[in-house]
Amino acid sequence: MNVRWLIRLIYSIICVTVSIQSRGASVADPHSYSQPSKVSVKHLDLDLKVDFKNKVLEGLASWSIDRKDTTAQLILDVRGLEIIDIKAVAKVVRFQPLSTEDIEAILIGPALSHRISPNDPIFGSKLEVDLPAGVNSIRIHYRTKPDASGLQWVGPEGTAGGNQPFLYSQSQAIHARSWVPCQDSPTVRFTYSAKVQVDPALRAVMSAVSEDSRTGKADGVYQFEQAKPIPSYLLALAVGRLDFKPIGPRSGVYAEPETLQKAAAEFVDTEAMIQAVEKRYGPYAWGRYDLLVLPPSFPFGGMENPVVTFATPTILAGDKSLVSLVAHELAHSWSGNLVTNATWHDFWLNEGFTTYVEGRIMEDLFGPERGDFERRLGYEELLAELKEVPAPDQRLLPDFTGRDPDDGVTRIPYEKGRLLLYQLEMRLGRETFDTFLRGWFTDNAWKSVTTADFVAYYEAKLKPESNVALKGLDLGEWLNKPGVPDGTVFPVSARLTKQVELSGKWSSGEMKTDDLMTAEWSTQDWLAFLNHLPEKLPISLMAELDKKAQLTDKSNAEVAHVWFLLAIRSGYTAADAATDAYISRIGRRKLVVPLYKAILMLPNGKARATALFEKARSGYHPITAGTLERQLQGDR
Ligand code: BES
Ligand code: ZN
Repeated sequence: MNVRWLIRLIYSIICVTVSIQSRGASVADPHSYSQPSKVSVKHLDLDLKVDFKNKVLEGLASWSIDRKDTTAQLILDVRGLEIIDIKAVAKVVRFQPLSTEDIEAILIGPALSHRISPNDPIFGSKLEVDLPAGVNSIRIHYRTKPDASGLQWVGPEGTAGGNQPFLYSQSQAIHARSWVPCQDSPTVRFTYSAKVQVDPALRAVMSAVSEDSRTGKADGVYQFEQAKPIPSYLLALAVGRLDFKPIGPRSGVYAEPETLQKAAAEFVDTEAMIQAVEKRYGPYAWGRYDLLVLPPSFPFGGMENPVVTFATPTILAGDKSLVSLVAHELAHSWSGNLVTNATWHDFWLNEGFTTYVEGRIMEDLFGPERGDFERRLGYEELLAELKEVPAPDQRLLPDFTGRDPDDGVTRIPYEKGRLLLYQLEMRLGRETFDTFLRGWFTDNAWKSVTTADFVAYYEAKLKPESNVALKGLDLGEWLNKPGVPDGTVFPVSARLTKQVELSGKWSSGEMKTDDLMTAEWSTQDWLAFLNHLPEKLPISLMAELDKKAQLTDKSNAEVAHVWFLLAIRSGYTAADAATDAYISRIGRRKLVVPLYKAILMLPNGKARATALFEKARSGYHPITAGTLERQLQGDR
């Protein structure tokens, strides 16, 4: 042992780890094996090699831990990981800010005994690591499986450029465990640093600040630092033929060169959006806010990974008509990433609050008409969803114990959550409600919160017992009963009402196709009009509208979706080829699953849907493929 090692060792002994305690840490999370009240993780140092040929990440995950109960083991969640070895680490010390000259003292100790429980299809396995006295850091050497549920390895054919592969992660809700051994619970927060090695033709991006990602690295070695404590579901990685373009003082876009300009133009209002939220609800806490455009197979619209939102290319409409998704993911920087749902039962605290803030951003940027319109559309989505979702899951506080939390992702937490906050806004007035919301974000920053925490906060701050404005609002009913309480104030939109009227008049023959002023319609006008048509239309009417507005060739992915749905139900076969191409190209669950469902309802639907699925399957993300497989088997 030389002098340098000795200095490092002495330093490591005197180094005190400051840990940010999460209030939610004592809350039991039914979707994680971990027991953070006994031993919790504090910092992750990740060293990953990305192997596209074998679709494998090989990694060293070094965890610093807090041993509240020194007799307890460390319990981590894993799914399908091959654990090569686990060793004790004397200490990991990182100085801030991170530089290549970082002093890092890693003294690797003996192998630690551990056990992995049999794999559960929903929860994966429990990894128990025995901890000898004095061990406060461990290092796990592991490999992922090619079918890891939290990763998609996209072949070149699934990308815009068509000549390089793409990899991205989607950790929410409980998929981080399939690519990093972790305490996969939103009650646990940790900071992380990472080194990721990729083919020099590609670029790596993570949910952490990195100068390297913006510039690109000729040697393919990328460094990352996330100094803010995050829950595991916000761990994120993407690797692809990416370029970067700044769009504001703290924002930019990562995309393949083919889509970069279009994306930068679409997202040009990002800085204004950040400022709109800051003005109302407090400073943006994460430093940069960048956006990454993923391949079209991404199963979601967007994912609020800190520092860099991951987004589907299907929102690149060319006219900013679908940027409410950016508003949404940005809003998560407050509701979700800063104030985090403690368990997946409290998901509405993430999504309901975010959907509410999203609406306020849209209104601030694009005016009250668009705000009202989108709020009303959301409410109508809620009404439609209430017809589909079983009563117990219509509660804002549902019970998903023993079930896959991904099944809780319906419009209920989003739109019923937003509707509740809208009630408070209407009753208290905007100013009072905004003050309340700002307080919620400030007082609970960096914490994981339960619905009970919200109720306590609501009672403490708004005094509902004596507050006349809140008379008759039964919070318990919103949280614990299905449906929407009587006496609820619903959002209205004059513009939407107008479209609904047109929709009725045109479909009943009262109004001629030629008299529809479709050239003036916005995306939202189209969505409202098409959504309110009867389930099926005569083929002649479909053909007339198509001829007038070229709907079958419409590139706006949301409008195309509603049109194809109508075409399938109406038997308008002129749209079949375009529908099939759309279904094979796009993997966003919200856009493709309803189309498959509609096809399955047709007389020969099963054969067409099965053939389509077989052809498109290899391009789908495991999440979308899984949902469709269950559909085709007739489960749901
Ligand atoms: N965090 C969600 C996505 C998510 C939720 C992924 C649960 C996995 C499990 C994200 O913020 C979101 O809500 N995305 C929406 C778009 C939004 C505009 C409604 C989506 O992907 O449809
Ligand atoms: Zn969301």
